[in-house]
Amino acid sequence: MKVLGIESSCDDTGVAIYDTQQGLLGDLIYSQLTHRKYGGVVPELASRDHIQKVLPLIDALLTKCELSADQIDGIAFTQGPGLAGALMVGATVAQGLRLAWNVPAIGIHHLEGHLLAAMLAETAPTFPFLALLVSGGHTQLIAVEGLGQYEILGESLDDAVGEAFDKTAKLMGLPYPGGPVLAQKAENGDPKRFCFPRPLLKRPDLNFSFSGLKTHVAKLIQESTLDEQTICDIAAQFEETVSEILVTKVGRAMAQTGYNRLVVSGGVAANLTLRRDLTQLGHDKDFAVFFPPLKYCTDNGAMIAHAGALRLERGEISDYSIQVRPRWPLDSLSDI
Ligand code: KG4
Ligand code: ZN
Repeated sequence: MKVLGIESSCDDTGVAIYDTQQGLLGDLIYSQLTHRKYGGVVPELASRDHIQKVLPLIDALLTKCELSADQIDGIAFTQGPGLAGALMVGATVAQGLRLAWNVPAIGIHHLEGHLLAAMLAETAPTFPFLALLVSGGHTQLIAVEGLGQYEILGESLDDAVGEAFDKTAKLMGLPYPGGPVLAQKAENGDPKRFCFPRPLLKRPDLNFSFSGLKTHVAKLIQESTLDEQTICDIAAQFEETVSEILVTKVGRAMAQTGYNRLVVSGGVAANLTLRRDLTQLGHDKDFAVFFPPLKYCTDNGAMIAHAGALRLERGEISDYSIQVRPRWPLDSLSDI
């Protein structure tokens, strides 16, 4: 079964074709640059850009995969959570193509797409596993028993990790999205020059708090001269702090659940320091650690095509309504 996936929840238009027999056949992504000058995503501009890009991208993808429309057996689209207008573009195109091509369609939860993206790697995890989901909008520890069986064990009480990266980067005058740029700066920094607080680290629960980090950085910036070396040193300590917090809570969650597999996903899973530290934790505590391939950590169409294929293959189909769910709790998904 060949499934076309469409991702349009934020500022990336992603399309991909996943085959349940052969795996991922191809994917294309258009990352919107229009938001850079505003320092964050402008929802209306995002919707307009998706409208212009999505159909030409699907055309280009079919050509790239040497497939014609009549070889597509199903369509998956991101139904939520995300920006309402942006989601609406993907949903409308998916439902329109579904009617034109006479195939089933399925609305996918964006975070389920992220969660299962590690299965696109050569060494794929099997259920059950603990998932650490770290994106621009979410930071969650999730017990994953199977497809659609998600129990949230802990989450950020304020900013998501990616959001903390982006806001801290912005404070230092770095361009949006700040995560990858801050990570680059950290490579040339001395992590020991500064020492940041580690909120909630000592509390036994599995929740996080990251908003204090940017306040700490804001104060530090006021007190210091923000030269290039200082930016790099702050970035290095910021990364080290975030990684230590995540590693500590993941260690606790692994012990608590008794799982022997950890899956890390979402945009911040592309962070090399975090990947290194969690891999080390796996070695030390004797559990396997899985990451999506780097290009499928951040938003992409492949993860939606893949999650859609798993659900369509099990006979799940969405109705014809064009309904998006900008707010949609992951643990309300159906168990398949
Ligand atoms: O999953 P994603 O593409 O979008 C959401 O669903 O939110 O995640 C985007 C987030 C942004 O906050 C971005 O700054 C962060 O992931 N990010 C990174 C890195 N690459 C992307 N953060 C730290 N290090 C990176 N290498
Ligand atoms: Zn995402």
